[in-house]
Amino acid sequence: MTDKKATLTVDGIDKSIEFPVYSGTLGQDVIDVRGLTAEGMFTYDPGFVSTAACESSITFIDGQKGVLLHRGYPIDQLAKSSNYIELCYLLLFGELPSDEEYDKFAQLISNHTMVHEQIVNFFKGFRRDAHPMAILCGVVGGLAAFYHDNLNITNEKERYVSAVRLIAKMPTLAAMCHKYNIGQPFMYPRNDLSYGENFLYMMFGNPCEEYKINPVFAKAMDTIFMLHADHEQNASTSTVRLAGSTGANPFACISAGIAALWGPAHGGANEAVLAMLDEIGEESEENIQRFIDKAKDKEDPFKLMGFGHRVYRNFDPRAKVMKETCDEVLEQLGMADDPQLKIAKRLEQIALEDEYFIERKLYPNVDFYSGIILKAIGIPTNMFTVIFAMSRTIGWISHWNEMIAGGHRIGRPRQLYTGHPQRDYPAK
Ligand code: CMC
Repeated sequence: MTDKKATLTVDGIDKSIEFPVYSGTLGQDVIDVRGLTAEGMFTYDPGFVSTAACESSITFIDGQKGVLLHRGYPIDQLAKSSNYIELCYLLLFGELPSDEEYDKFAQLISNHTMVHEQIVNFFKGFRRDAHPMAILCGVVGGLAAFYHDNLNITNEKERYVSAVRLIAKMPTLAAMCHKYNIGQPFMYPRNDLSYGENFLYMMFGNPCEEYKINPVFAKAMDTIFMLHADHEQNASTSTVRLAGSTGANPFACISAGIAALWGPAHGGANEAVLAMLDEIGEESEENIQRFIDKAKDKEDPFKLMGFGHRVYRNFDPRAKVMKETCDEVLEQLGMADDPQLKIAKRLEQIALEDEYFIERKLYPNVDFYSGIILKAIGIPTNMFTVIFAMSRTIGWISHWNEMIAGGHRIGRPRQLYTGHPQRDYPAK
């Protein structure tokens, strides 16, 4: 915080209005405009381009420099040296765990992986061909009906129980969505496996034969979980915060976050990237250029999927790690010549040299390469966004917890009304 002030003068108002300016530990200063309503005005910022909606100490992004820090630690260092469970602890509690704290936390998560047996009945109500994100939205919201024993959100311990339940049960529910789609029996979690191994086991195992976990896949899954774990006040996290600001229970809030994530401008982009690569078809300059031209055409709503970001205007540090992971995984699987990987790389190269993308500072984002890795692991395309939701659950719940613990007001934006002025209902 500083003693800096911002002064606003408005045509037609003869006094100027002063606002406090705050500095965080990093990043741009913010002007506290809360006093503006007393002057009979609001700010107008569709898309929240210039609005900080809250104070937070979880994640920091510098979009100009391509920096992403979780509790101060750079994402590339975390991806290289940490693991998803440790990152969950860090995001939730603010510090890295000691060995003892880590073991206790990992054990606790393992102890909560099973879901209530009646949740199976919930699944049975869905059509087999339902999109797994549709199922996940419903089932996660429905968890409040099964785990209402710890829903007093003013109690820190009860909030922690819900957080642990969500982190632990998301892979189980995600894998159940897939199994339901393909008509195979649900696999109970195995608590002797790591978070990533267990997810693969529940996705690809079946009761008839032993499933051998490929360590390359398990490591890649863990990296994907880490790269998606949190991203400060993105659309789905802001949705979770807004829902949570009303006092709604955490399962309802996370379900709202899943709904917001589903859109192709957000988490749905990973599925859309693969659809785009499929549509490009064969690798040829002509095919790729057609899609670049389509993305640049103002008359066409199509956007190059996996490209661009509201905050990153240089590069997305997650995309850098994701591309390296993609190269490593495909190399280890003997798939370095994968045709879609080749198309993606060529597409990236052409876009990065094109004036349209240079001028608008559009770079590949985290979702550009994630789908290629997931596909190589054997994950069906309709599960890509579900995996994003699983990974992001820790970010959502950490922000929700921070907001509830820190004190907050209900989120209630205003509007610039452009409708009809008051008029009388016609006499009959
Ligand atoms: N392809 C072509 N043009 C683009 C693209 C793209 N992918 N992204 C932005 N633009 C253009 C946009 O049309 C606009 O052009 P102009 O100034 O001529 O009107 C300019 O670049 C600025 O874009 P914007 O739409 O104002 O940017 P935004 O901050 O509102 O949107 C975005 C950010 C991520 C929604 C957008 O870039 C996009 O739709 N990208 C494709 C979807 C995608 O990959 N989403 C995943 C985001 S990262 C994962 C996550 O956090 O969910």
